[in-house]
Amino acid sequence: MNAIAPPPPMSLLAELTHRCPLQCPYCSNPLKLDPRKDELETASWKRVFKEAAEMGVLQVHFSGGEPMARPDLPELVAYAVELGLYTNLITSGVLLTAASLKALADAGLDHVQLSFQDADTQQAERIGGMAGAQAKKLEAARLIVAEDVPLTLNFVIHRQNAARVPAMLDMAERLGARRVEIAHTQYYGWGLMNRDALLPSRDQLIETEQAVAAARARFGTRIAIDFVTPDYYADQPKPCMGGWGQRFINIAPTGKVLPCHAAESIPGLTFPTVRDESLSDIWQHSPLFGLYRGTDWMSDPCKSCAFKEIDWGGCRCQALALAGDAGATDPVCHRAPGHTLIEQAIAQRPAVPPAFRYRRYGNADLGVAKPEESQ
Ligand code: FES
Repeated sequence: MNAIAPPPPMSLLAELTHRCPLQCPYCSNPLKLDPRKDELETASWKRVFKEAAEMGVLQVHFSGGEPMARPDLPELVAYAVELGLYTNLITSGVLLTAASLKALADAGLDHVQLSFQDADTQQAERIGGMAGAQAKKLEAARLIVAEDVPLTLNFVIHRQNAARVPAMLDMAERLGARRVEIAHTQYYGWGLMNRDALLPSRDQLIETEQAVAAARARFGTRIAIDFVTPDYYADQPKPCMGGWGQRFINIAPTGKVLPCHAAESIPGLTFPTVRDESLSDIWQHSPLFGLYRGTDWMSDPCKSCAFKEIDWGGCRCQALALAGDAGATDPVCHRAPGHTLIEQAIAQRPAVPPAFRYRRYGNADLGVAKPEESQ
């Protein structure tokens, strides 16, 4: 563990709940979802936000699951705003109504990131596993723009929707978004389980890059586009979370504190909880956050790499999922001993994508409208 206290995280991801009426096959939540009965209560979330602000955290991202399944969301946003935190709502939009948006806007919400599964309604609802979702999302976008809350549209890209990236960019322009994320799927958790159904070809990747370049030229400074490449086609690994325990702190619905949303997939770790310890103590002193922080934990090829303080060895959860060792170099890196695993996954990609394995909340009470049976 590093002896010097780390600077505070920039952002806190508050996963208020794992409940969600959508069933996306690339969901970033863990394979084992937290039950509603164990979710942190309102007062505990407020204490966490207060501790975060006192530590120097700047932004709170309200996420899930679907954070709008929590009726206390406007109260939590108002409290975070009062503390001087920048507030961002990450939502599917399917539970958003004029009244709930008004309550959030009145609470001072700074920004909404609204996800769409596709520009084509039938495909979007097949991918998200919820009939009727697209109309609700379009209405949500209209309400957000009408309320003058800055809007980002998020599209997760994979082999089954990549051809429609130009239509997605047109849609962002039409709906009045100020920013659009064209983010290729990441392959851990649900995404890894559905990798053959999701992984695009290199040609598809090039086409999405070309569509983004054309839209950037057309949009100029009117609409910003963030493009996230599928790291299976990159030579360098991504600096996942900006480095383990360096910029982000995640709070799971039950109060467990994580360096990233997938950290629970790493066996043998003990996860501290805000029910027992302060956020500051966890960030500065917990063995979990010190485990892969900085560069001391690295072995070669990371240890002797000129990029080690740029990519921080890549993604620990991907290293575990593919190479079986969370302390290994991310196999995405072309210098990693496990890089052949990436080459094999691309080479063995089936010509016809298999059926999706949907992320379902199970029989537990969603506390929100039940999704229709997926197609
Ligand atoms: Fe855990 Fe990348 S998702 S380190």
